[in-house]
Amino acid sequence: MLAELSPALIAEVKLAAKLLASKRRICILTGAGISAESGIPTFRDKQTGLWENYGVEDLATPEAFVRDPKLVWSWYQWRRQVVVDKAPNLAHHALAEWQYHAQTSDQQVTLITQNVDDLHEQAGSSVTHLHGHLWRNRCGQCEAPYQDQSRASYDNQNAMSFDEALLTCPHCDGYIRPDIVWFGEALPVNEWQTAEAAATNCEVFISIGTSSLVYPAAGLAQLAKQNGAQVIEINPDPTPNTIVDITLAEKAGMILPLLIQEMTA
Ligand code: APR
Repeated sequence: MLAELSPALIAEVKLAAKLLASKRRICILTGAGISAESGIPTFRDKQTGLWENYGVEDLATPEAFVRDPKLVWSWYQWRRQVVVDKAPNLAHHALAEWQYHAQTSDQQVTLITQNVDDLHEQAGSSVTHLHGHLWRNRCGQCEAPYQDQSRASYDNQNAMSFDEALLTCPHCDGYIRPDIVWFGEALPVNEWQTAEAAATNCEVFISIGTSSLVYPAAGLAQLAKQNGAQVIEINPDPTPNTIVDITLAEKAGMILPLLIQEMTA
């Protein structure tokens, strides 16, 4: 596979692998780009990105849910349908393998994701979700978790699982919503603390498949840098991240297996 990359990129991969092999505390932040090769659309890629075709303010804010809960609920049911048959790709598997090997080495590999899909878990990773879970629901009013709490429960049901009809909370009659962090909402406290601590304490921070536009997640790389970490970015396209030490400008599914192979060689 190395032969498919340019000599300059191969040199950067080797440099990144050498750096990673020499450090103990690694923090990884993933975004929609890592699931793109599994067939899940990103948010901001031209033409295919979800926000290229739909309005954030119509679908991913608490105000939108108050204004038109049916529209928001049916859009998330559609997203579930898009994601339900998708599987982890080489990038997810490579990270899971790295975390697995780290258990028996002295490396600590903390994986944080902005993604609401469960492809990291499916690959076998331990991961902290900053923006919630596509397969979980809760009441939009009293916040009580709603019965379907896993992808398996959707898998086991028939197509009615993706019914667009609104559901109501058995406790307070409020409308059920996906357990996802919308624009204007706070991140879950424990998950954010885990992410902040990992970014603050890491020696290398790796940003994978994120446009680095959405805060506070996008600020984690800066936090890591301010605390002395080196920053690696894996993304085929440029981002506004100006603090990157090593840029690996290729798809995550191409870079990560190589990087991990090089690192453990
Ligand atoms: N490998 C690596 N990166 C990729 C790949 C790939 N195969 N394909 C696309 N990318 C990159 C794109 O170049 C882009 O920079 O992934 C990035 C995806 O960016 P966004 O669509 O903005 O996704 P993300 O950064 O995860 O968005 C952050 O915005 O609406 C929200 O809550 C949502 O969590 C999401 C947040």
